[in-house]
Amino acid sequence: MRVFLVNFTTVLKNIIMLSEKVDKALNKQIRIEAESSQIYLSMACWAESKGFEGVADFMFAQADEEREHMLRLLRYLIERGGNANISELSKPPANFKSPKAMFEEVLKHEIFVSDSINDLVAITFEEKDFATHNFLQWYVAEQIEEEATARTILDKINLIGDDKSGFYLFDKDVRSLIAQKPE
Ligand SMILES: [Fe+2]
Ligand SMILES: [Fe+2]
Repeated sequence: MRVFLVNFTTVLKNIIMLSEKVDKALNKQIRIEAESSQIYLSMACWAESKGFEGVADFMFAQADEEREHMLRLLRYLIERGGNANISELSKPPANFKSPKAMFEEVLKHEIFVSDSINDLVAITFEEKDFATHNFLQWYVAEQIEEEATARTILDKINLIGDDKSGFYLFDKDVRSLIAQKPE
C-alpha cells in the first residue's frame, strides 16, 4: 500500500510539475516584476525629493502593484511545485532629467515587460503547459493597461509643455489615476 502511495505521488507530481523551461521562465519574470517594483520605488523617491507629490504617490502605488505581480507569480510557481528562486535585484536609476524623461522610462520599461510576458506565454505554448498559459492571460491584459496608462500620462505632459501652473494641476491629476487602476 505504501509503495503504491509513493508511486502514485510520483506519478501525480510528474503530471502537474512544471517543465524546466517554464520553471526558469517564471522565475525570470518574478525577478523582472520585483525589479519593476524597485524602479518605481526609486522614481517615487526622486519625485518626492523634487516636490512632485502626486507623481510620488502614483509611483509608490505602482511599486506596490509590481510587488503584487511578483507575489502572484511566486504563489503560482509554488502551487505548481516549481523551484522558487529569489534572486538579487539590479539597482534602479536614481536620477531623472524631468518628470517627462521619467515617464518615458516608465513606458519603455512597460514595453520591455510586455515583451517578456509575450516570450513567457510563447514558452508555455511550446511546452504545452496550458494551465500556465491560461494563468498568464491576466498578465497579458494587465500589460495593455500599464502601457496605456504610461501613454496617457505622457500625452498629458506633452500637452502642458512648459506651463508651470499646468504642471501643478497635472501633479494633482496623476493621483486620480491611482484610483482608476483596476484591481
Ligand atoms: Fe508588472
Ligand atoms: Fe508594470
